Amino acid sequence: MKRVMERVQTLRWNGKQIELIDQRLLPFRTEYVACDSAKSVAGAIRDMVVRGAPAIGVAAAYGIALEARRLAGTMPSVFAERLNEGFNILAASRPTAVNLFWALDRMRKLWLSHPDKSLKELSGILLQEAHAILDEDIGINRKMGQYGATLLPDGAKVLTHCNAGALATAGHGTALGVFRSAIEAGKRLSVFADETRPFLQGARLTAWELLQENIPVTLITDNMSGYLMSRGEIDAVVVGTDRVAANGDVANKIGTYMVAVLAKRHNIPFYVACPLSTIDLSLATGSDIPIEERPANEVKGFRDCHWAPEGVAIRNPAFDVTPAELVTALVTEKGIVTNDTLMKGGLSGFVKNGR
Ligand code: MRU
Repeated sequence: MKRVMERVQTLRWNGKQIELIDQRLLPFRTEYVACDSAKSVAGAIRDMVVRGAPAIGVAAAYGIALEARRLAGTMPSVFAERLNEGFNILAASRPTAVNLFWALDRMRKLWLSHPDKSLKELSGILLQEAHAILDEDIGINRKMGQYGATLLPDGAKVLTHCNAGALATAGHGTALGVFRSAIEAGKRLSVFADETRPFLQGARLTAWELLQENIPVTLITDNMSGYLMSRGEIDAVVVGTDRVAANGDVANKIGTYMVAVLAKRHNIPFYVACPLSTIDLSLATGSDIPIEERPANEVKGFRDCHWAPEGVAIRNPAFDVTPAELVTALVTEKGIVTNDTLMKGGLSGFVKNGR
């Protein structure tokens, strides 16, 4: 099997800090931001230096490990109080991607399960866990990729929305991982990347990431996919997700819902690549998923270029929810969940057996 050479490293440990590729600067500059505390990691998540559900979760785990290291020389009561503050700052950074809360929960449980360790030992254990979460993420994406690749025919023209690639994860990607794995399995694919207004993750990140590896990619604006579908130019849609409710409703980047409706209209399969850590069984349906509202200036323009009049009212919901009925299948690291399964009883049976 040929292995696609991944050229993108989203998060890297330099021995003292976690370095995050600055996704605000791509595709024009490749620079890393070094973080050494929970506060600096939370700032990087909030400001979109690092983004994408799994990558946010990995970064948050390092935020806790770094905070524990910083506090290892303090009194145990001070350590506990400040580390708790670190958890709170990270939990407040972005609301929609559940991977953030999943990673924080995992780090907190580990902390509380070692009451007898010295603070130095404990901070070492937390750092090892952050490394493990990063490594596991890549392994999970590779497994998801192998399952997802079986769904795509040789020669498929596939559409994706936002960036669910190596840049949104520790490596390989979720939706783009499916494409990478299909190519590794010898299939020929060509990818249409939605521009993804307003933050342009498709134009800036997906287009750049795929070009790094010579994976055929064509950029379109968000309002073009219906036209291409109506002409038979798209065979399948594959997207990532930030949170999936127990009934299979999927939150993903704003605009995903429109793509899913169009795919249904044109009988095109709509697949969602979804690690189990993105499934939130505590929420019955997608209407319970908290949707982040981002600053108005992201809609007014981009960086220093503004095109909307001052004073105009603006909405900027960063995510939308695609109802389970529009999802042809979820691709997880434990296998594929078909629409039939979702419609019959949702995800709890699958997750309880799979996890
Ligand atoms: O606002 P972002 O860029 O963090 O949104 C990212 C997405 O919506 C991705 O599609 C999602 O996190 C899946 S990433 C593997």
